[in-house]
Amino acid sequence: MSASSGTTGAMADSATPLVAGCWYVICTTTELDAQKMLSRWILDQNIVVRRTENGTPVAMDNRCPHRSFPLSKGFQSGDEIVCGYHGMSFDSEGQCTRLPAGAEIRGKIALRTYPLIERAPLIWIWMGAPSKADPSLLPDYPSLTEASWIAINGYYHVAANYVGLHENLQDLSHFEYLHSSSIGVPDRTPSSFDARLEDGKVRCARLYANVQPPPLYQTLLDLGPRIDRKIRVEFTSPALTHGDMTIRNHNEKPNEEEQEYHTRILHFLTPESQNSTHYWWYFIRDFALDNGEIGDLLKRGIQAAFAEDQMALESISELTRRDPRTTFRELSFATDQPGILMRRTIAAAAGLE
Ligand code: FES
Ligand SMILES: [Fe+2]
Repeated sequence: MSASSGTTGAMADSATPLVAGCWYVICTTTELDAQKMLSRWILDQNIVVRRTENGTPVAMDNRCPHRSFPLSKGFQSGDEIVCGYHGMSFDSEGQCTRLPAGAEIRGKIALRTYPLIERAPLIWIWMGAPSKADPSLLPDYPSLTEASWIAINGYYHVAANYVGLHENLQDLSHFEYLHSSSIGVPDRTPSSFDARLEDGKVRCARLYANVQPPPLYQTLLDLGPRIDRKIRVEFTSPALTHGDMTIRNHNEKPNEEEQEYHTRILHFLTPESQNSTHYWWYFIRDFALDNGEIGDLLKRGIQAAFAEDQMALESISELTRRDPRTTFRELSFATDQPGILMRRTIAAAAGLE
């Protein structure tokens, strides 16, 4: 491992305070357009997202200050949102514009609003101090809609803390065991890897040289008995880990051309609460663009692998929450280095030393 920093310090875990000062995905544009007034829990707060009449997405606390009725269960009138219980109304800045008939309250009433950025197909929210909501902090990530690539995507609600999900995504050493029937390399050949912390991002590159193809790709691609597989993973922010993969047939004569298959995968994670996480994923490929059957089979294969991850993370979450002993100490291995760097980065962002 090489690291410019991050080799010491606290490691985040499921008890670490959630990081508010970060852009998180709150929903997809498709979700918002389908629901009109979307209620979503983020960092233990209930938010309502909607569009004003000119199409701008806006977000505010989803809790009426009168009797806490969720505003998302009310209705919109022009750019205003009207509480469905007794009719308090709020504009898109959160200012109360109308009280129930006969009510009198001195002083201004306002709900907290939250900065949003729409970058289709995703809508991002800033849960920290609004004055710190710098659009340039939106994480940089590969295009989801590039020509000559095709995307499949999905969503999971995971009953586990988001730090464990990021660690699972940095950790490729579980592929050969947890995913032995899907995306793991069956012969469990150790791979070389390099992990480093650069500009607050944890980057890991791993090369599997001359290994058996993972079962999922062997059935879908024109692969021989041995392949080379390169995987790169980047922890970009508490809201995003993404990576890419190149697969080609192993060739002892390196000058001979071999077809390469490229994929990118993006994992957008948003803490719903201390122990639950929203997880949107996109898998993008540059091959079999017109082959819907391969797309369907890939989606099913990836979902099977993610279901294995979900089972592992939810099992760990349940076990660690139910066992009250404080004497337990985690073991870590050399292969955990990317995850450890990531956990130190999140701990620092959460204000832990
Ligand atoms: S609960 Fe909203 S106006 Fe009464
Ligand atoms: Fe996994």
